[in-house]
Amino acid sequence: MIEFGVYRLWISSLFVLYLCCISYAFDPPDVYLIDCGSSSDTQVGKIRTFVSDKSSTRYLSASEEILASTNASFITSGGDSDLYRTARIFRGSSNYKFSITQSGRLWIRLYFYPFVYQNYDMKSANFTVSTHENVLLGNFSPKNATVKEFSVVVSSGDLTVQFTPANNSFAYVNAVEVVSVPDTLIADDANLVSPKGAYQGLTSQAMETVARVNMGGPLVTYVNDTLWRTWLPDSSFLKEPNLAKSVVKVASVRYPESGPTQDTAPQTVYGSCTRMNSEGDPNSNFNVTWEFPVDPDFQYFVRFHFCDIVSTSANQLVFSIYADSWDVYKDLELSSKVFGNNLATPYFMDYVIPSTNNNILKISIGPSPSSLDPNAILNGLEIMKIENSVGSLSSAISSRPPIPSSDSKSNVGMIAGVSIGVLLVVVMVGILFCLYRRRKQEQLGHSKTWIPISLGGGTSRTMGSKYSNATTATIDSKLSYRIPFASVQEATNNFDESRVIGIGGFGKVYKGVLSDGTKVACKRGNPRSQQGLAEFQTEIEMLSQFRHRHLVSLIGYCDEKNEMILVYEYMENGTLKSHLYGSDLPSMSWKQRLEICIGSARGLHYLHTGYAKAVIHRDVKSANILLNENFLAKVADFGLSKTGPELDQTHVSTAVKGSFGYLDPEYFRRQQLTEKSDVYSFGVVLFEVLCARPVIDPTLPRDKVNLAEWAMKWQKKGQLEQIIDPSLAGKIRPDSLRKYAETAEKCLADYGVDRPSMGDVLWNLEYTLQLQETVIQSDPDENSTNRIGELSPQVSDFTHADAGSSNVQVEMSNLEDLSGVSMSRVFSQLVKSEGR
Ligand SMILES: *[C@@H]1O[C@H](CO)[C@@H](O)[C@H](O)[C@H]1NC(C)=O
Ligand SMILES: *[C@@H]1O[C@H](CO)[C@@H](O)[C@H](O)[C@H]1NC(C)=O
Ligand SMILES: *[C@@H]1O[C@H](CO)[C@@H](O)[C@H](O)[C@H]1NC(C)=O
Ligand SMILES: *[C@@H]1O[C@H](CO)[C@@H](O)[C@H](O)[C@H]1NC(C)=O
Ligand SMILES: *[C@@H]1O[C@H](CO)[C@@H](O)[C@H](O)[C@H]1NC(C)=O
Ligand SMILES: *[C@@H]1O[C@H](CO)[C@@H](O)[C@H](O)[C@H]1NC(C)=O
Repeated sequence: MIEFGVYRLWISSLFVLYLCCISYAFDPPDVYLIDCGSSSDTQVGKIRTFVSDKSSTRYLSASEEILASTNASFITSGGDSDLYRTARIFRGSSNYKFSITQSGRLWIRLYFYPFVYQNYDMKSANFTVSTHENVLLGNFSPKNATVKEFSVVVSSGDLTVQFTPANNSFAYVNAVEVVSVPDTLIADDANLVSPKGAYQGLTSQAMETVARVNMGGPLVTYVNDTLWRTWLPDSSFLKEPNLAKSVVKVASVRYPESGPTQDTAPQTVYGSCTRMNSEGDPNSNFNVTWEFPVDPDFQYFVRFHFCDIVSTSANQLVFSIYADSWDVYKDLELSSKVFGNNLATPYFMDYVIPSTNNNILKISIGPSPSSLDPNAILNGLEIMKIENSVGSLSSAISSRPPIPSSDSKSNVGMIAGVSIGVLLVVVMVGILFCLYRRRKQEQLGHSKTWIPISLGGGTSRTMGSKYSNATTATIDSKLSYRIPFASVQEATNNFDESRVIGIGGFGKVYKGVLSDGTKVACKRGNPRSQQGLAEFQTEIEMLSQFRHRHLVSLIGYCDEKNEMILVYEYMENGTLKSHLYGSDLPSMSWKQRLEICIGSARGLHYLHTGYAKAVIHRDVKSANILLNENFLAKVADFGLSKTGPELDQTHVSTAVKGSFGYLDPEYFRRQQLTEKSDVYSFGVVLFEVLCARPVIDPTLPRDKVNLAEWAMKWQKKGQLEQIIDPSLAGKIRPDSLRKYAETAEKCLADYGVDRPSMGDVLWNLEYTLQLQETVIQSDPDENSTNRIGELSPQVSDFTHADAGSSNVQVEMSNLEDLSGVSMSRVFSQLVKSEGR
């Protein structure tokens, strides 16, 4: 009973956490403000209290620290001058360790002001600041008063900020601020400026704020920013100030019901802008350019804030945005981006700018040739450096200085903490084991057995003579997929940046051509985390065993020189997601979309049933469904796949894997993984295909943010057609839409047991396509569900047939044929088809 209580508590705390994620008014769950070196608390601007050094020593593990203070008066305009009067000097490696109640993004703001104290001239300090995951500052030696702002992602209960002096030097800091960032502030996706496409993975990356600018307006400090940010005026960044003019109309700003809020940027930022100084000359044609000092070799996240406070009517203002010599957005028409009558509605756009060799990043705006009245505006701009592949934000230091795990001060706490932790783990494992047993008993009725996959069975594919000399693989010596590094280099023209076709937290994907002319996609992982390695190995194991028309084929891999490279067949048409939204690709027809859904459902159905032991993909999403030159859908990215059902042993940390927005709530609640988790995610994909919008869109009002919730709401009202992709409006037959929506709805059932199997989903989608293509005489609503329900076991029988022998490839093609035949045969009995 007690055990169950603990488990319940744990579930409910997860739930609270989940609710916090989507709540509106932001109240940071974690706030630490420390005025280092100070003997008393310091009030900053009446609203924030930085606690004295004395009362914050419990966060600190320091060796040879010195408290310093100065009488020199240094006055900042932000009202935080008092913070700079004292500092803490570290002569040895030291750290602050903060306990974090809510995982996610946190701001770390570090205040530095070099003054002279006794023998310490702080201008000569030289040090590195790091966390467990990231290097924040490398060989840093601040010469002026500065505030450095970082946002890091914390997934465990602690954040450690470590100061490591360089040889024969020392470190110091005047104040430390750690505060939670709302989860919705920075989404996972942004647009990649070059090559054009989608950038994913922001939610797991650390960033450093390089510039946060209020165009055409005053300095905005934490007093006027709900998230305590500072926005600088833009005058010092303008390349040619005489070409620009500022406009201020703060009162006219109206935040939309959906989209940007005060948390995105304050009214003062949206209510002022810098515009082209083009008045009186209808032939003006020039750019207004800002220049920002940047570190080469890093990628930058750039957020553009707009609010049209200059136009008097819609469609007046059309302009283009550039970053360096790239087009960021051609012919932006702000009035088409905001809804409602008020032009002065805030709007923002996120981009990722690739690394360049320049020390200066130029951002320009210029008139569009199509506008009558040449003008261009920008209201606000944020530029953030993105961590590099080794987790560093400093080009000087790439390896994180070691952070001591404990020290004498906190040993007692540690021991107590550890024993409580061990106890909890034991209790947890016990509970999970019981649940597992129960689950297993439930499963027995289904007469499915879960035997381990044997890798030894091997595969029949060989790489051809060119690779036959490859030395033994470390992953599995029996696999003949290993490709020499030199061949990958050759295929990708030595990882030529112009070949990059995808980019994200994991690394880059390059297009390549093997020497035999095969087009390939090479995914090169960051040589970083243990987790990356585990996913790399899983992907190889999975893909080398499973071959199916609707699963992406692995051609080979390379693990030489610590590389983690996977080589796949090249999929000409990219991701399903890119065809749905966020790109200029032409919209797909309903039939085409259905065929893609059917194809991917086949791939997943095969994963779940095609082999003796079910394989759970765990990361089903539209970005993992790829399309070949004929728009044939193939499921990709098996890095998280598991054979299961099983209990996820990694649950103790935050490691519910998968993608936010697609995640099965039951898996989230119970950490129990079954094929039905994939069915849930696939249901979300079905709605995504129908509505053509991101599954999580933080810029929308709260009830629309999460696609699954929002679509279910409309589906329950029976008015799903209200929210479908406008380009499909009137083109879907009502029966087809109804069947499709019902299928998606069932996939999203709260409990896995209530969801259909992937086989059922496949049948229903086939039927949806039939309904679209032919006119069915009988009442489809009455008949389809029952009949399909009756028939589906037959599919399973076919696919279960004799899956144990070793020649996987041949067997799979047989299976594919078999199931294809059986489906069309049974199907023709099912539907009174007229068209065919
Ligand atoms: C600051 O001024 C006070 C008195 O005005 C003096 O006692 C103290 O030594 C001074 N501190 C420093 C660091 O100069
Ligand atoms: C800081 O120390 C590092 C290594 O000791 C050195 O390479 C670097 O030049 C130093 N930086 C400054 C500003 O003194
Ligand atoms: C420090 O500030 C002074 C005056 O504000 C300025 O002239 C100088 O260039 C700054 N130095 C650095 C290293 O930024
Ligand atoms: C710092 O000194 C240690 C030995 O005193 C040496 O091993 C190390 O390489 C030095 N580091 C730098 C960056 O100079
Ligand atoms: C900031 O807020 C204060 C009062 O809250 C107001 O008086 C002041 O004008 C604001 N400043 C800016 C730049 O918006
Ligand atoms: C504005 O800048 C972009 C990018 O550098 C350039 O292509 C364009 O020609 C410029 N426009 C004008 C009018 O100078």
